[in-house]
Amino acid sequence: MCVSEAGKMKLISVFKLLLLLQSTIASVTVVNEITTQKPTFGHLETRNHPEPFANVTGSLDDRGVCQCSVYLPDNTFPVQRMERLENLAQELSVKFDSELSKVSQYTKEIEVYEKRILNLTQKIEYLEKTSVSYTELDFQIIKVEISEMERLVTELKTTLTGSNVIVEQLYVEIKNLSVMVNQLESLDKNNILAVRREMVALQKKLKECEENRKQNVTDHFLPGNCGHGKILNISQPYVIQLNWRGFDYKYGAWGRYANPLTPEKELYWVAPLNTDGRYLEYYRLYDSYDDLLLYKHRGQYRIAYGVGSGTTVYNNYMYFNEHSSGNMGKLDLTTNTVVMKKPLPNAAYNNRFSYAGVTWQDMDFAVDESGLWVIYSTEASTGNIVISKLNETSLDVLDTWETKQYKPSVSNAFIVCGVLYATRPVNTRKEEIFYTYDTNTGKEDRISVIIDKVLETVQSLDYSPIDRKLYMYNNGYLIRYDLTFQALSAE
Ligand SMILES: *[C@@H]1O[C@H](CO)[C@@H](O)[C@H](O)[C@H]1NC(C)=O
Ligand SMILES: *[C@@H]1O[C@H](CO)[C@@H](O)[C@H](O)[C@H]1NC(C)=O
Ligand SMILES: *[C@@H]1O[C@H](CO)[C@@H](O)[C@H](O)[C@H]1NC(C)=O
Ligand SMILES: *[C@@H]1O[C@H](CO)[C@@H](O)[C@H](O)[C@H]1NC(C)=O
Ligand SMILES: *[C@@H]1O[C@H](CO)[C@@H](O)[C@H](O)[C@H]1NC(C)=O
Ligand SMILES: *[C@@H]1O[C@H](CO)[C@@H](O)[C@H](O)[C@H]1NC(C)=O
Repeated sequence: MCVSEAGKMKLISVFKLLLLLQSTIASVTVVNEITTQKPTFGHLETRNHPEPFANVTGSLDDRGVCQCSVYLPDNTFPVQRMERLENLAQELSVKFDSELSKVSQYTKEIEVYEKRILNLTQKIEYLEKTSVSYTELDFQIIKVEISEMERLVTELKTTLTGSNVIVEQLYVEIKNLSVMVNQLESLDKNNILAVRREMVALQKKLKECEENRKQNVTDHFLPGNCGHGKILNISQPYVIQLNWRGFDYKYGAWGRYANPLTPEKELYWVAPLNTDGRYLEYYRLYDSYDDLLLYKHRGQYRIAYGVGSGTTVYNNYMYFNEHSSGNMGKLDLTTNTVVMKKPLPNAAYNNRFSYAGVTWQDMDFAVDESGLWVIYSTEASTGNIVISKLNETSLDVLDTWETKQYKPSVSNAFIVCGVLYATRPVNTRKEEIFYTYDTNTGKEDRISVIIDKVLETVQSLDYSPIDRKLYMYNNGYLIRYDLTFQALSAE
């Protein structure tokens, strides 16, 4: 699945060559068998078959010498045929010698090809071992990532006044990488692996630089603090990676979470749905951002089953819509056991009112600074979005708001500081946050904040109040955005 077409063709033609060589050797061996019979012509004939030629009568002459007369039969000894055979044998013998020298030459060549095949096989095995498939798209995504890194470094250069050797060096390295990717695109696609590794290293360096800078920038809006207005703008997409199950797993969700027992850890969860776009069966947990980048998961777990991409994680518990029911499920991530199931009152389910372009997401769980929410619809709301605040311990509904926004006409939604944000597609590359509902005031509003996306369909959006970032599952790719907010006075 991961072997490039060019690689396959190479392999096939080497195999063909081998077969050809083998058949050549086989025919040479036949020649050999024929020519080794050469000495039997001429020399052994008379000794083995004397009868037809010999009619001997012997007598002694006067000097006591024995005289014999031999009567040859009518048909004379086939001298000419014998000569022809002898000539033929000689010709064959010469041919055989030349073929024999060719065989040893071919044998050497075969050894070389065998080595090459072994090399190719190893390469292919290596490619297959890395569970991710590399497609045309990777180049596009790498280019987006590189341009994003370029932008960040340029930004860093301007914010870090004066000369900074590390940043200058990073800038050169990223420029080099960009050139490399362009060259690679016209050459061997398999080398994309090497580029990936280099990019992970660079991304790590960049992150360190950024964090260094952040310490110097006074942040007015610390995470967890709601002393700000609505979303003002959203960053370029940071493409983190393809989900661990691969390109075919287009539906799913991911995000960052915290375990109250280990608050210092930067934890991530990734939950691609099965390829049917319906069942949530497997998820993985990562103990750090670096682990996530390197696909080094802490554990892979199975649930039987959640439904839809509306899953979220809050304080070490995963919340999901139990399949074929209006139940909410609560799963302890430490033990991977479902600790609670409870119906969400009046909620429509079984793909009744999902999002536009995304099936089975009747219940969309969300987390904000104040805790756990669920976004859904009821028959009574005729498909309009209903928002409920949940008690995350008991899964009881604490409060409910009905909006005037029809759920199947929005592509996804998330909640920040009690404000619901809903999105819709503008085109295949842009999504727009166009609608807000503020549960603090009960007011709805229209806004326009454009989100650049990598692929067409947004399967889920999850806000993390821990880092104030937005986590998008975009046709199988894990994308992350930084959000900027209006100052409170600007409202
Ligand atoms: C040998 O030659 C004699 C005399 O010509 C003849 O009679 C006899 O049949 C021959 N024998 C054979 C075995 O041909
Ligand atoms: C096989 O691969 C090794 C290392 O990757 C390389 O040194 C060697 O030259 C290759 N052999 C052939 C026959 O291509
Ligand atoms: C960038 O590429 C140039 C030429 O390809 C090379 O000389 C230089 O060492 C590279 N710089 C870095 C930092 O990789
Ligand atoms: C941050 O500020 C400190 C003190 O003002 C300074 O020493 C340090 O170099 C700055 N860090 C960066 C990355 O500019
Ligand atoms: C919003 O963010 C984008 C991408 O970072 C940037 O190009 C644009 O200028 C920003 N717009 C505003 C109004 O800040
Ligand atoms: C949530 O439920 C738990 C367990 O029933 C209860 O102890 C707690 O007071 C509830 N919290 C709120 C905010 O209602």
